[in-house]
Amino acid sequence: MEQQIEVLRSEALAALSTVADRGSLEAARVRFLGKSGAVTALSEGMRHVAKEDRPKFGKLLNDLRLAVTSALESCEIRLLEEADAAAVSALDLTLPGTFPNAGTLHPLTQLMDRAVRCFRRMGFAIADGPDIETEWHCFDALNTPADHPARNVKDTFYLPDGRLLRSHTSTVQIRVMESVPPPVRIIAPGSAYRRDEVDATHLAQFTQMEGLYVAENVSLADLKGTLEFFFRELFGPGTDLQFRPHFFPFTEPSYEIDIRAEALGNQWMELAGCGMVDPAVFEAICERRGDRVYDPERVTGFAFGFGLDRLAMNLARIPDIRMLVENDLRFLKQF
Ligand code: DAH
Repeated sequence: MEQQIEVLRSEALAALSTVADRGSLEAARVRFLGKSGAVTALSEGMRHVAKEDRPKFGKLLNDLRLAVTSALESCEIRLLEEADAAAVSALDLTLPGTFPNAGTLHPLTQLMDRAVRCFRRMGFAIADGPDIETEWHCFDALNTPADHPARNVKDTFYLPDGRLLRSHTSTVQIRVMESVPPPVRIIAPGSAYRRDEVDATHLAQFTQMEGLYVAENVSLADLKGTLEFFFRELFGPGTDLQFRPHFFPFTEPSYEIDIRAEALGNQWMELAGCGMVDPAVFEAICERRGDRVYDPERVTGFAFGFGLDRLAMNLARIPDIRMLVENDLRFLKQF
């Protein structure tokens, strides 16, 4: 019996050393360890072994089973390693890789990010409103009379149901005050729409940034200080600003801001509208809210709005505004 065990051990180890695929590995497992396999058959021979020899042969048989099991396991690991090696053998690690197309941020996005960061440092939160608006939010609440040219169907896109595509982001001032009591200090970057003939300097959809600060005792000095700080952060400390008296229905007094900066080609450029929120706007808000938290006797505020497209164009020396929306990769990759 002892000899038989030894023969079977060498037979099994020899057979496993030549196994070259999973199929023959499985066949070897069945042949030696299966229900009617060689090791099992040998165990059955125990019946004929003398009682006193049984422990000894039992141990030898057990050792055999362990040896074959562990040889099967090593064989399986060897097959896996061989398969792994074969899988990468055709791989040329010296070949240059294929690079993901990372893309770049749009010049408008870059400018907007910088502007937002700067206002956030001054405590402005970002507010949002719908692009499709009511006439009330776009004009009436902003103290714009019914015969104002901006309300003309030639200038503003009206929907069949009477709503419109907002012609400026000033709508967000109204949206915010409708729902939040003072103090509010927000900026609202977003799209605005006008029926402009599209050419090198006009698009029918453009980008604005609105600002609104309402609290007790907000003054014109706050407006001026905030915007001077902002534009000098954006375009450098040497930036010149000029506040030119102007008219907007929703602010009183109102100003247009001209700016001259090295980064913008050192020429004066008309840039933004701003002013102190007109009491009529606060009254419209009070009426809509049904309370007096925006009582113009109690709160004051400043507002401003400017376009980002022309600024981005001047900063990046982009000659035609249409390039901002054509999605030409040769253009976009330059930023
Ligand atoms: N909404 C104006 C426009 O689109 C810009 C503007 C002017 C916004 C004065 C304001 C403001 O908030 O106070 O031309």
